[in-house]
Amino acid sequence: MREYRQARSSEPHIMEYEGIKSEPPVQMPSNEELEEILGDPRRRPLLRSSPPSIPQLSEVELVRHYTRLSEMAYGVDNGPVPLGSCTMKYNPRIAKYYAFHPIIQNLHPLQPEETVQGLLEVAYKLQEWLAAITGMDQCSLHPAAGAQGELAGVHMIRKYHEMLGRLDRDEIIVPDSAHGTNPASASMAGFRVIEVPTGSDGNVDMEALKAAVSNRAAGLMITNPSTLGLFEQNILEIAEAIHSAGGLLYYDGANLNGLLGYARPGDMGFDIAHINLHKTFSSPHGGGGPGAGPVCARRVPVGDTGYYLTDLLPGPIVVKGEDGRYRLEMPRASIGRLRAWWFSTIPVVWSYVYILSLGARGLREAGEASVLATNYLLHLIRGVEGYEIPYDPDRPRKHEAVVSARPLMEETGVRADDVAKALLDRGFYAPTIYFPLIVEEALMIELTESEPLEGIEEYARALKEIAEEARRDPEKVKNAPRNTTVSRLDLVRANHPRTVTPTWRVHLKRQRGELGVLK
Ligand SMILES: Cc1ncc(COP(=O)(O)O)c(C=O)c1O
Repeated sequence: MREYRQARSSEPHIMEYEGIKSEPPVQMPSNEELEEILGDPRRRPLLRSSPPSIPQLSEVELVRHYTRLSEMAYGVDNGPVPLGSCTMKYNPRIAKYYAFHPIIQNLHPLQPEETVQGLLEVAYKLQEWLAAITGMDQCSLHPAAGAQGELAGVHMIRKYHEMLGRLDRDEIIVPDSAHGTNPASASMAGFRVIEVPTGSDGNVDMEALKAAVSNRAAGLMITNPSTLGLFEQNILEIAEAIHSAGGLLYYDGANLNGLLGYARPGDMGFDIAHINLHKTFSSPHGGGGPGAGPVCARRVPVGDTGYYLTDLLPGPIVVKGEDGRYRLEMPRASIGRLRAWWFSTIPVVWSYVYILSLGARGLREAGEASVLATNYLLHLIRGVEGYEIPYDPDRPRKHEAVVSARPLMEETGVRADDVAKALLDRGFYAPTIYFPLIVEEALMIELTESEPLEGIEEYARALKEIAEEARRDPEKVKNAPRNTTVSRLDLVRANHPRTVTPTWRVHLKRQRGELGVLK
């Protein structure tokens, strides 16, 4: 096993940096110069009365500061980040090159449409491709995250029923394996959440589902493959049960990677779907700005109102006129805007390049490779003492797999949390732990297609080695990590509002004793 040591440096905060004090390296314009730049005297009140309190560092000091910080961080360029349900694929440099190209970076969201035809074409094509990939009819790139796509989707469900005069449709059905954002979005949109259990085979318990469906059901939110990495085998029956009760089917597309090129939510009966561009299509979460959670819909008629579900999408969306020019337009009966501006440009360009560079066949191969990676890992750890595979262990998984460390905990007292920390010591990012909530001591692993074969084997070896170490010396595993920049944190202090210091101002307030302390 490779030895791993993360960098340690007592790097000061940039505001504490002993940089150049006398001569500011960046010459700020004087107030007189600024007044000239501002021109109109009405803008004068905008001028600051005192210089900004910013650190004065030379370029070399600044670059070294951030390089040292980056050495103490871990990212997908260091090794795998197999955080099931929130995974990071490798971010291809070609996509980054275009997404961060000065032509894109220097655009302004208030520019007239005529001057951004190239970007609008990229967005239009991405809308079309995502619709083709998901089997939907129209996509809106507007939402800034998967969870915001969900919120848009449930508001569309609400509006759909309101347009039909069905004001008593106030329930959304969600399986108990769902990502927390599903019930949260439904609840934020004013719905009551009805939870249905998962059967021992990993599928939704059909009897419980049918019992939950009533004429108050506005719809169902489900991700397929589920957060257990299992394809929901009864999806057509579920769609039929929801549709025949007048409800709509919402697809949480966070797990689309496992289906790429093989199956489409639209063909399974889903009416609305969101996609996490930053998962399936390789743009980083955020990536210098907000992420992107496009939401798509099928052209389902809203009764005899003359409107379709696609007309309810959030906007603006990009449309192509008969003259071949692109423009931004609000769908006819849109639920409206969810955020400022049109869409998140960086992940949109990034995902466009990713899809363009892979093509239809490449996408299918990416999906296949991610499924293969998951199942190969499972194959390697199946039978390793200390771990078990919950819910139909022999059934192939899709994009991710959930392993339980319950046997290890019962035997040695070492918990999933400790296994995750011991993985950090071996140079791997931890998997998601304690989710989905229906699995005890859950380790949720999503390696994606970007992990080389050796990386999968090393990950499996590390899990095996940790289980052996737990049996020999459980305290050692419980005290991991040791090889990382920061060793084990006090979880309460690391999360409590009285100890978390998110900004420099909060830090100064704490120093002055103006904020409460955690005893
Ligand atoms: C299954 C599932 N649904 C929804 C989300 C929410 O997406 P986002 O993090 O983009 O808000 C995630 C998180 O990645 C997820 O794994």
